[in-house]
Amino acid sequence: MDERPRATDPERLTGEQEFDTTLRPLSLKDFVGQEKLKSNLAVFIQAALERHEPLDHVIFFGPPGLGKTTLANIIAKELGSDIRTTSGPALERPADLAGILTNLKERDVLFIDEIHRLNRVIEEYLYPAMEDFKLDIIIDKGANARTVQLKLPRFTLVGATTRAGLITSPLRARFGVSFRLDFYQPEDLKLIVRRSAQILGIMIDEDAALEVARRSRGTPRVANRLLRRVRDFAQIAEQERVFLELTQESLLRMDVDECGFDEMDKRIVLVIIDKFGGGPVGLNTLAMAIGEESDTIEEVYEPYLIQQGFINRTPRGRVATDLAYKHFNRKSQSSQRTLFND
Ligand SMILES: Nc1ncnc2c1ncn2[C@@H]1O[C@H](COP(=O)(O)OP(=O)(O)OP(=O)(O)O)[C@@H](O)[C@H]1O
Ligand SMILES: [Mg+2]
Repeated sequence: MDERPRATDPERLTGEQEFDTTLRPLSLKDFVGQEKLKSNLAVFIQAALERHEPLDHVIFFGPPGLGKTTLANIIAKELGSDIRTTSGPALERPADLAGILTNLKERDVLFIDEIHRLNRVIEEYLYPAMEDFKLDIIIDKGANARTVQLKLPRFTLVGATTRAGLITSPLRARFGVSFRLDFYQPEDLKLIVRRSAQILGIMIDEDAALEVARRSRGTPRVANRLLRRVRDFAQIAEQERVFLELTQESLLRMDVDECGFDEMDKRIVLVIIDKFGGGPVGLNTLAMAIGEESDTIEEVYEPYLIQQGFINRTPRGRVATDLAYKHFNRKSQSSQRTLFND
């Protein structure tokens, strides 16, 4: 398995993670947006509570920073259970998994982040644990080796992944509940910005909060990060309040454009247009031309660019759309073709 660090690795996000924790809503009521997901989840939680049963296993799919870890913690809280958190790459040997599972209590939540990075052996140990709350472990070696079956407390597994395509179908089939998180609308992000501002003691005007929201790539984590940076600019400019012009000026200085695209977003689109004639270009070639890992492009950048209609995925590779040509003031492929034909 590929073990290079990813953009989503905790090691790479330590500072930001601390900040994530401070601003993390603790109940479904405080979790902004994703209305359909929230109302369904509330039903499943309440039903499980009424039956005094553990909640069925839940998996969250979605790009980074949309609230998967937050929701895992909220689930435990709403169930009145404890949560134990680990991640796919952290579970190296069956003993790691056995250690965690046997220490759970009835109806506890086990959260496995980056569950697409579980190794096959661990994954197979997990199947009977999820299905029948049993764990088969092999003790001793050679001729003395034998299997012992451990009975586990009935727990709820919550999995999160940024890469739906990498979850094997037997694993996926063992989750009774699966949710896909969507990018947030500016109105929801505005509520998140205002909530975070309140927690951090930042005074921000309504229109300034909306501006931050509009430029946050549909992502709460980005909204919180931009809010923090705008606060820095306000502080150094000796302003008590964050107002619209200051926000616009700060975002401009951070190279965040009107659509919320940052330097890397721009680079990706412009490399496709300028170096590869608009595409199609394969992901690996693109990654090499940009000097970024292909995983990071696929997990972090591409979903938003696709959602906004700036690039398309085709079987032969990535293609820049007419909208991208227009946004970045490039002559579109179709007009070039017309010129050529003339
Ligand atoms: N719906 C929401 N309402 C309020 N804040 C939110 C919401 N979703 C996410 N956040 C905030 O965004 C930050 C990032 O969320 P979280 O860590 O849950 O994302 P994630 O999906 O687990 O990301 P990753 O894939 O990188 O692990 C958290 O600090 C949380 O405060
Ligand atoms: Mg997370």
